[in-house]
Amino acid sequence: MHKLIIGGSNSRGLARKIAQQVKQQYADLIVKKFPDGDTYIKFPVSVRNSILTIVNSMHPAPNDALVELLFAAHTARELGASKIIFVIPYLAYMRQDKRFHEGEAVSNKIIAKLLECCDELITVDPHLHRIQGLHEIFPRHIRAISLTAVKPIAEYIQRLGNLKNIEFIGPDIESSQWADRVAHELGRHAVILHKKRYSSETIRTKVKMENPVRGKTVILVDDIISTGHTMIEPIRQLKSMGAKKIYCIAVHGVFAEDALVKLQKLGATVVCTNTIENKVAKIDVSKLIVGHLRFV
Ligand code: R5P
Repeated sequence: MHKLIIGGSNSRGLARKIAQQVKQQYADLIVKKFPDGDTYIKFPVSVRNSILTIVNSMHPAPNDALVELLFAAHTARELGASKIIFVIPYLAYMRQDKRFHEGEAVSNKIIAKLLECCDELITVDPHLHRIQGLHEIFPRHIRAISLTAVKPIAEYIQRLGNLKNIEFIGPDIESSQWADRVAHELGRHAVILHKKRYSSETIRTKVKMENPVRGKTVILVDDIISTGHTMIEPIRQLKSMGAKKIYCIAVHGVFAEDALVKLQKLGATVVCTNTIENKVAKIDVSKLIVGHLRFV
């Protein structure tokens, strides 16, 4: 049985890295758009009797990425693949995990249902808020694994050096899962802020630090940077408090509405992992994923 790693259009760089590390055959999934917007996919190599790992992040264009994954899995099944593993480093739609208002879709459950066409799924830091784990939304017969990029992030910060001069911040309560754990890996702890979100752009956060930040490096750690507003509010206050250098580090750099430019204009250094490939994806999660791939 041959093993094959296929890179979807959002994750070719990461997929190649995974293939190099597991020393398996790699191919790009051929993906095209018809003039009317329909998606076309084709495997450039035979998938018959293969253990097929399809790597595709659900950003940018989550709906297109989803269609790519579904088309690839169903096609591979028809063409005789023996096992299909989805590596979806950024699993979109996880934040809508309840019906906040009558009539809304509970998107995380619907997405899980659609992705049931694989045998295994590996993802990194899915936004699990009101649920404990992926087992709550995926059926038992799917091995759904959720990894965390806490260690690769901590290793990146370690390489920056001068840890004593760094203050760690989680910009909201939910971020403590990342900020606290990253700081802990480095023998430190993080100050967790209280954020009040009134709309996607209107956020109030009061930065209250235990130690002075004047002349120091401050690292804000979160799972996702989307519009950037969760980071923007603390950055402004930290600057006026005299912080010398501010990093915004997140697992997933979604960067909606020009968030990256906005954060950089405020003088922050933005760094993310390559769960989403972009120019600030400097923290590699391929080793983390490879450690959990099972080709049996
Ligand atoms: C929310 O709970 C998440 O952990 C992030 O803080 C949030 O999704 C970031 O969103 P934005 O960048 O739009 O403020």
